[in-house]
Amino acid sequence: MRIGVPRETATGERRVAMSPESVSRLVKTGVEVMVERGAGVPANFPDALYEKAGATLGDATAALGAGVVVKVQKPSADEARHLANGALLISLLQASTSADLLAQLASGGVSALSLEKVPRITRAQSMDILSSQATIAGYKAVLLGAAEMGKILPMLTTAAGNIPPAKAFVLGAGVAGLMAIATARRLGAVVSGFDIRAAAREQVLSLGATFVGPEPSADAEAAGGYARAQTEEEQRKTMDAMATHLKDQDLVVTTAQIPGRAAPRLITAAMVATMRPGAVIVDLAAESGGNCELTVAGQTTVHNGVVVMGATNLPSSVPHHASLMFSKNVLTLLQHLIKDGTITLNLEDEITGPMCLVHAGSVRA
Ligand code: NAI
Repeated sequence: MRIGVPRETATGERRVAMSPESVSRLVKTGVEVMVERGAGVPANFPDALYEKAGATLGDATAALGAGVVVKVQKPSADEARHLANGALLISLLQASTSADLLAQLASGGVSALSLEKVPRITRAQSMDILSSQATIAGYKAVLLGAAEMGKILPMLTTAAGNIPPAKAFVLGAGVAGLMAIATARRLGAVVSGFDIRAAAREQVLSLGATFVGPEPSADAEAAGGYARAQTEEEQRKTMDAMATHLKDQDLVVTTAQIPGRAAPRLITAAMVATMRPGAVIVDLAAESGGNCELTVAGQTTVHNGVVVMGATNLPSSVPHHASLMFSKNVLTLLQHLIKDGTITLNLEDEITGPMCLVHAGSVRA
């Protein structure tokens, strides 16, 4: 069995799906790995490291032509044309906006596993790409916001005067939010957080941040630990609390998401107008519509001195460690799939089944 690792071609994508370390693990089990020349370079993995790990280097056609192809981003239509009939593609697939691609894969006889669909069960935790990449995003969001601020985060007592600590607020305390809280705390900010799930409240407090906003309700958590959408009344209460709290914050990181829906709009333009000039909002929900009404995905805008950053694909901006974690997730998935040196998809499996979007010539629901 040969696994192909092509170079990522999506604009701005610097990650690579397999690190040399993961390649070495696979090669030791008798699997052949073909890496496209230069695939790891944007993530600081030179070709020589892949060769040392036992990979063969080749061109894009060779990597895309392997029996199993692992990628970070979904393939372009042109890349998908190079996938072999009978091949297995493992990558992010963004199913809701990829109907044409999935149909193309099906008609080309390619099976596809979507990395966004790793079920959130304990057994699959080490394959959970959404979590590993969200950790990186939460960290980078704080650094981006801190760099944009005209203030420093820690308290200083110096001969040149005393500086109070900055106030940071994290809205949505899931995987990215908790990492953002921990990072802002390490940088010395006074940190507060909010989430609608009761479990998140405990986690916010355990990181030394304060919890603000309405008391979470016990039934706010849906399947897989995700949040359910709030009722109008619940959302109004949340927004009232935000309106009061945001006024004196210096850095706000928003991460609130509901799977399969637009992100909840929790910060209005009117609330931003009450914030101090120089305050920064980093909106990690930008790609799904944004938690802030003023967010523009991929852009930084300024409103009466308040900076609103529509952060997109932050993991790619930390390509080395994001790739190491991504690759470890993919390696664990491959180890789960490979039996006696080959992969036969078992759609009854609780991990493989939900991930498989294309198989045997058809797109699965
Ligand atoms: P996510 O990216 O879908 O959402 C981020 C956060 O936004 C969540 O904590 C959610 O509760 C919060 N949120 C949604 N609507 C909100 C609102 N109106 N106001 C404030 N906050 C709001 O979720 P993420 O971070 O990917 O995962 C959430 C949780 O799922 C984790 O904290 C964990 O409990 C669970 N999980 C379980 C895993 C497993 O068992 N394998 C793996 C990963 C996560």
